[in-house]
Amino acid sequence: MQSKGMGRVLHLGCEKRAFGGIERRVQTACSCRQRGRRYIERMNTPPTSTSAFRSRSVERVVRGQPTSDGAGVKLTRVLTQPLQKRLDPFLMLDAFGSEAAADYIGGFPDHPHRGFETVTIMQEGRMRHRDSVGNVGLLGPGSVQWMTAGRGIIHSEMPEQEAGLMAGFQLWVNLAASDKMQPPAYRDIAPADVPRFVTPDGATVRVIAGHSQGVAGAVTRPTTEPIVLDLTLPSGASFDAELPPGHNAFAYVSAGAVEFGDASAPTRVDAERMAVLGNEAGAAGVRLVAPAGLAAPARVLLVAGRPLGEPIAQYGPFVMNTTSELQQAVSDFQRGVLAA
Ligand code: CO
Repeated sequence: MQSKGMGRVLHLGCEKRAFGGIERRVQTACSCRQRGRRYIERMNTPPTSTSAFRSRSVERVVRGQPTSDGAGVKLTRVLTQPLQKRLDPFLMLDAFGSEAAADYIGGFPDHPHRGFETVTIMQEGRMRHRDSVGNVGLLGPGSVQWMTAGRGIIHSEMPEQEAGLMAGFQLWVNLAASDKMQPPAYRDIAPADVPRFVTPDGATVRVIAGHSQGVAGAVTRPTTEPIVLDLTLPSGASFDAELPPGHNAFAYVSAGAVEFGDASAPTRVDAERMAVLGNEAGAAGVRLVAPAGLAAPARVLLVAGRPLGEPIAQYGPFVMNTTSELQQAVSDFQRGVLAA
């Protein structure tokens, strides 16, 4: 997705080139057998007492802003620019979900990015991705694409369906100043390659990035060390997600409702709301409980990352540290060398 601010952008042509980015750097997910063994060990282990677990609390509940992007795709911008400092290193979270083809059929034609990473998480529907590095991929239900734009990439994200439900997320993760100009890279992750486990009381945890309860996610990234968990909690299920103390964290409830925080003072967050989680000293992470009586399991995207603490300068699809770096990005794009 491209974010507003660039006006109409032009396709600058594709160039195939070798890339040595994320695919070589990320830690590969553990094998199915190891995952299976971990799962069995977990299921055989009596639930440990959670009374000692101190949870972060909900600092603020945010309702997203309806907007459109690309060629008229309707979406909800949940993490907006005013929250970029508070939720550093995360720059944006868009939630999209519609059964009306008119809301998504235009897709996201060719547009550039520089200076950060985009993470596309599909829940329903199909999107075709193509980029200036020569990558082509089809995202289907449950699949994830992790793209490091680095110094520059031009790509398109177009629906590969003319009817039916299209739903999912796009998350933008900032890169440190020293990493912004690295070569672009990307990885398509099939649903079966996203490690998952089920807790004794029925919470399903898909570990897209980082670690959860000893399970390594599909993606591990340096510096920002993001944790991205896709959670499904049936009524009555709870889950304690450990989070590093310094990480900023938020959770988006896409279906049902969830109570966040210690049992003594939980905060209920309904569907289509984001909870900004506090950074309380001494909290081990966040406790989630799906309240009784939900018609369907709660769905939650839980995201945490180590803040970069650097200046953020954004112009549409370019996110750098200074205005002059943004001017350079625009100039490089106009001269056709952004993705060269
Ligand atoms: Co994009």
